[in-house]
Amino acid sequence: MDTNCSLPLQRTIVREPERRDDNGFAKGGKHLDQISSSRLATRLRELRNTLRPTPHVQLAMKGMDLFAKLEYVNPVGSIKDRAAYWILRRAAERGEICDQTTVIESSSGNFACALAAFTHLVGLRFIPVIDPNISGTYESFLRRLCPTVVKVEDPDDTGGFLKTRLQKVKQLCATIPNAFWTNQYGNLDAVEAHYELTATEICADFDSLDYVFIGVSTAGTIAGVSRRLKERYPNIRVIAVDTEGSAIFGGAPRRRHIPGAGSSIVPQLLSHAKIDDIVLISERETVQACSELLTTHGLFVGGSSGTAFAAVKRYAARIPAYEHPTVMFLCADRGTPYLDTVFDPAWATRLE
Ligand SMILES: Cc1ncc(COP(=O)(O)O)c(C=O)c1O
Repeated sequence: MDTNCSLPLQRTIVREPERRDDNGFAKGGKHLDQISSSRLATRLRELRNTLRPTPHVQLAMKGMDLFAKLEYVNPVGSIKDRAAYWILRRAAERGEICDQTTVIESSSGNFACALAAFTHLVGLRFIPVIDPNISGTYESFLRRLCPTVVKVEDPDDTGGFLKTRLQKVKQLCATIPNAFWTNQYGNLDAVEAHYELTATEICADFDSLDYVFIGVSTAGTIAGVSRRLKERYPNIRVIAVDTEGSAIFGGAPRRRHIPGAGSSIVPQLLSHAKIDDIVLISERETVQACSELLTTHGLFVGGSSGTAFAAVKRYAARIPAYEHPTVMFLCADRGTPYLDTVFDPAWATRLE
């Protein structure tokens, strides 16, 4: 990443990325409130005001008190808003980005949409690197907000596009002045976002919590949330939820059709998560669970929310009735972008 920022921000901030606390979060830099009057700092402070705590709702479920945390209430519509905001903020605090920065990221989904909206708001350029699997809704959104969208076409050796996208990101970073790669797969600021924001909200709302079920892709969410919740509720069990065909927990990667949970690589951030158990869910189960969430519980949520709910239901069978635990799962995004896939019965019959 090229961090040749030559604006006031850089003059006021000492960059000390190598200093990290016990959680691995970077120390050093200044707090956003201490950064002087650049447009970027002012707009980031405004952006902070739009990120409010998300609600949780209780769902009827035998044998437990079950709560869904509705992350689709975030301003751009998903849990990725938190990581996008926090990564930009921390990069500004450390002087790694300034008003001239071009942000670059490989994402075909929620993270790109969050970055597109937030970089637009704070006055930075953003080039998303996407692939042919992107949903039409996301691609339209990105093309409305970003003057340049780079779409790779060649699959990598896993049959997916992640490696090709990352190669393209590196190429762009090497050629575009003041490029900054947010690197959602390895950026500890994403972990810190969920430690400080998502998990802190849960801690404020619950006196006790026995289980939390979290879908995994980059592992930023589970790493940040698990670390904070284990501090607050030492006996909590953190259940990682992944999709069959994902490589995150050691399986051979194969073609998956529902974006959100799952990855064709083992994400770097996974090593920061505190996980007690792993549940793998098929895409068919995800579809059924999304439908049940909508028709039985009134929640119109995206694929990974269904994956997490399917894991709760599978796990429920193992929990002794006398335990009657308090359980939470995260609803990472809304169902709307999945209308032509997960919520289309004809599409779903084509799944393995
Ligand atoms: C809908 C949805 N759910 C879950 C996740 C997983 O979150 P994380 O990347 O923090 O592991 C993502 C990540 O992109 C997502 O878009």
